[in-house]
Amino acid sequence: MTKLSIRGLSKTYAGNVQAVRKVDLEVESGEFLSLLGSSGCGKTTTLQMVAGFVSPSAGSVLVDGEDITYAAPEKRDMGIVFQSYALFPHMSVSQNVGFGLEMRKVKRPELEQRVSEALSMVRLTGLGNRYPSELSGGQRQRVAIARVLAIRPRVLLLDEPMSNLDAKLRGEMHVELRALQRRLGITTILVTHDQVEAMTMSDRIAVMANGVIAELGTPQQIYDHPTSEFAFKFLGHANVVEGEVVSADNGQTAVQVGAAIVPARTETVQIGHKTKLFVRPERLRLCSTEQGSIQGKVVTKLFLGGIWFYEIDSTVGKLRLTVTNAGTAQPQEGQAVGITWNDGDMQYVSSEAAHG
Ligand SMILES: Nc1ncnc2c1ncn2[C@@H]1O[C@H](COP(=O)(O)OP(=O)(O)O)[C@@H](O)[C@H]1O
Ligand SMILES: [Mg+2]
Repeated sequence: MTKLSIRGLSKTYAGNVQAVRKVDLEVESGEFLSLLGSSGCGKTTTLQMVAGFVSPSAGSVLVDGEDITYAAPEKRDMGIVFQSYALFPHMSVSQNVGFGLEMRKVKRPELEQRVSEALSMVRLTGLGNRYPSELSGGQRQRVAIARVLAIRPRVLLLDEPMSNLDAKLRGEMHVELRALQRRLGITTILVTHDQVEAMTMSDRIAVMANGVIAELGTPQQIYDHPTSEFAFKFLGHANVVEGEVVSADNGQTAVQVGAAIVPARTETVQIGHKTKLFVRPERLRLCSTEQGSIQGKVVTKLFLGGIWFYEIDSTVGKLRLTVTNAGTAQPQEGQAVGITWNDGDMQYVSSEAAHG
């Protein structure tokens, strides 16, 4: 049971680069939390401060209430797996996994026991005598994880550990690693720029931008109901439509989009003002022109196997939408279509940039 608290954590590098700015984060015991954001937003710096390899400019890191901000990395009981998880090429898999234990002077019988336990956790039992060059990319990656698990860390820190794997393998590793983490119940922070990776694996995601946390919540919360335009666009495709405020009452406004009246909590409550609303591609539906709230014409239709992808030139701008491929006929390019959606799927989000 290990809870991690990050309080007001900041890092300013030489040259006045404010890489991380007053980050507050509580990672619950057994939780899998991802730091998600584009390159340079401060993810690795945050993780390195937790691990003890980068010293904070301000703020603190606590493990189960104990302040470890300035503790040496090897005193923290944390396992860290980097993007470049170099295995020792001249050592067997078992020797690689046992390396950290030898450093810690763990005696033979126990060392062997823990190596075999760690290999079994990552489903590599029986491959202990192989060398890294005799393994697939995914297997090597699992050795790197076993090497860290063998030391039985209280916290697991993963910095883009799967970015060197091909897409299919990465998808499989997401499922495996998630299952392993749940089974061990080990408090975990994953750093990634891949929103699908973050969504598939995490209990919660902290979206980072410019050194601050811009959005924090469960994958579904932040995908379906992000609080900012930035997050809406970062987590998936955002269709942006322009509507006009037609009524306002107690902060609840009604916005006209095409023929539809959309209830939304907008910034402006001035009748006649224009406002932007957001909707995900999979929440829009094609229908007959009579039934549609918005009229349009199919510009692009692409077959992606499980789904059809559409681009529509509509009365409120270009829209993207997806239709599940259930084997039924779908409108063709050039065809006039109507577009509709369910209440709540078209929403207002603040245009304010990530704070900080
Ligand atoms: N050792 C360093 N010295 C100076 N600047 C650094 C150093 N490490 C990272 N930075 C800068 O800090 C910012 C955040 O970097 P980083 O934490 O690596 O981001 P991310 O992992 O999200 O890509 C970037 O602007 C980066 O250039
Ligand atoms: Mg990084």
